[in-house]
Amino acid sequence: MSVDVAKQYKTSSNLRTRANLHRRYANTSWFSWAGERMGFSEGCTVADIGCGAGWFWASNQHQLPDGLEVSLVDQSEQMVAEAKAALSKLSAIKQVAGYVNQAEAMPFEDASFDVVIAMHMVYHLSDPDKALDEMRRILKPGGRLVITLNSAADLKQVYELNSRVFDVSPITPSVVMAPPEEVEARLAQRFQSVSKLTYQDIYAIDDVETVFATLTSYPPGNEASDAQQAQLRAEITKRLEEHDGVMHTPHEMLMLIAE
Ligand SMILES: C[S@@+](CC[C@H](N)C(=O)[O-])C[C@H]1O[C@@H](n2cnc3c(N)ncnc32)[C@H](O)[C@@H]1O
Repeated sequence: MSVDVAKQYKTSSNLRTRANLHRRYANTSWFSWAGERMGFSEGCTVADIGCGAGWFWASNQHQLPDGLEVSLVDQSEQMVAEAKAALSKLSAIKQVAGYVNQAEAMPFEDASFDVVIAMHMVYHLSDPDKALDEMRRILKPGGRLVITLNSAADLKQVYELNSRVFDVSPITPSVVMAPPEEVEARLAQRFQSVSKLTYQDIYAIDDVETVFATLTSYPPGNEASDAQQAQLRAEITKRLEEHDGVMHTPHEMLMLIAE
């Protein structure tokens, strides 16, 4: 399965649809958990590659150290504009700059940043080796690169339903596009140490339309025929009915920290 990145992420609309599922069912905040582990310190310089709409920063506003200088990078002009506006409102951010750029060729001097983060974006890279070389290049000596990904267990029961209707794998498409072990191996080629942390939650999903909206916000569900849409709704409904109206599924993410 391939995703047209420019089309999928032109605006934050598709991301927002998927965020609804998390907003509705999360028991703890993924962004807060991630924020606590980024290794930010007062006055440090950070590059956020594939920043999206900047929701990570807004969610962490009360736990960020002061004086951060943040450079936001995304291939989407509208995402960069949205993220920049969000960060401009945060008191901990001393300076924010936005760059509409591909991660594979970034407009920064060597050794510019204390921390580089790339959250849920490496599976979209057309040339992962080139982009990881870039992330390594722009880090200061002793700096840290933090990459986040979905694990293969993420929303397992939801993706299994998707595979009943479409010719796709029964696991999250992001893991099919870039298996976490491969990303980890690429990091190990470039950094002295790579560690992996796991974030876990369990969702108790009870609403058909929230799942349907999620699965039809990206390929192939976003181009489904009327018949496929009807079949998808029926599969979700049936699964909920079989489980007394509640489908339990893990929400599991990985954080790779390279130094
Ligand atoms: C799934 S979103 C993640 C957004 C945000 N980091 C988060 O965790 O909420 C992926 C983002 O990466 C951006 N992206 C994908 N490939 C990219 C590339 N090669 N260079 C720059 N940005 C890219 C997309 O435009 C999108 O905003």
